[in-house]
Amino acid sequence: MKKATRSKSKRASRVVVVGSLNLDYFTRVESLPRPGETIAADRLTRFRGGKGANQAIAASRQGCEVTLIGAVGTDEGGGAYRRALEEEGIQTDHIRTAPGETGAAFITVDRDGENMIVVAAGANGEVRRADVTRAAAAIESCDLLLLQFEVPATALVEAARIANQCGIPVVINPSPYLPTFPWQEISADVIIVNESEAIELLGFPATPAVAKEVRERLFELRAGTLVVTRGSEETLAFVRDGDLYEIPVLSVVPIDTVGAGDAFAGCFAARYAQGHELEPALRAANCAGALTTLGAGAQDPIPDRDQVDRHLQFLDS
Ligand code: RIB
Repeated sequence: MKKATRSKSKRASRVVVVGSLNLDYFTRVESLPRPGETIAADRLTRFRGGKGANQAIAASRQGCEVTLIGAVGTDEGGGAYRRALEEEGIQTDHIRTAPGETGAAFITVDRDGENMIVVAAGANGEVRRADVTRAAAAIESCDLLLLQFEVPATALVEAARIANQCGIPVVINPSPYLPTFPWQEISADVIIVNESEAIELLGFPATPAVAKEVRERLFELRAGTLVVTRGSEETLAFVRDGDLYEIPVLSVVPIDTVGAGDAFAGCFAARYAQGHELEPALRAANCAGALTTLGAGAQDPIPDRDQVDRHLQFLDS
């Protein structure tokens, strides 16, 4: 494995995640329903999910100390979720218990692994700018801040602003995409998107042929690097002031792709926080994303550091 080169700190690297916690209600069907259609699933399974918690777990399993800033509801599921994260080694002091229900996601996956997800934000919608301000010390002393778009933008902007002031790298996975996000108010070191989010963010598909146009958009977005995951095709990384990387992926036969993008983002963030250069961090992230598709639910199949390292040699080409 390539050695880390960006930082040489002896302590465990610290990642702060501001994001969502959901209870995922999961059904598997032959074909996804059409509008107006009712279909039967074999059974209902409940998992823990939410992009923020999934990414926090992915970073923690890569060996980082992770703090999650977010909210659960006053329901039984919220308390159980907090305890599960603590067992995972995640710092939960900044997960507030907000009145009402914990966030929920209703996920249906068809026989080809295609999915439909409906999210009810619940307590995630209660994450306030003040929650982030209270956690400023954790952000100021971390090695990397990781954000997604399942909690209100005001909280995300506050977190990025604190990190920007301290020169702490900010990685943003703008998912689900929010057209009104005020990119001009903050700077992002790395933005991670899938192909459809890339079109929404840039206004055009991100391909190697338009690398110059992507770099121009990165200037407008005040971002350093755009990473585009493309399923079974190479991941692309457009560095605003540098090269275009095409990072090979691990060939797998997925059984459930839910959470794969989160495993990718969390693993990348962890490795980058640990001092790895962009390219090796992305190779590890590609392994983590692919391995996560081999099990059911978003969190259980997220691999640890050893599992990722063992699979690096099997990346295509
Ligand atoms: O990215 C996967 C996640 O999206 C699921 O865990 C679900 O909670 C939704 O937020």
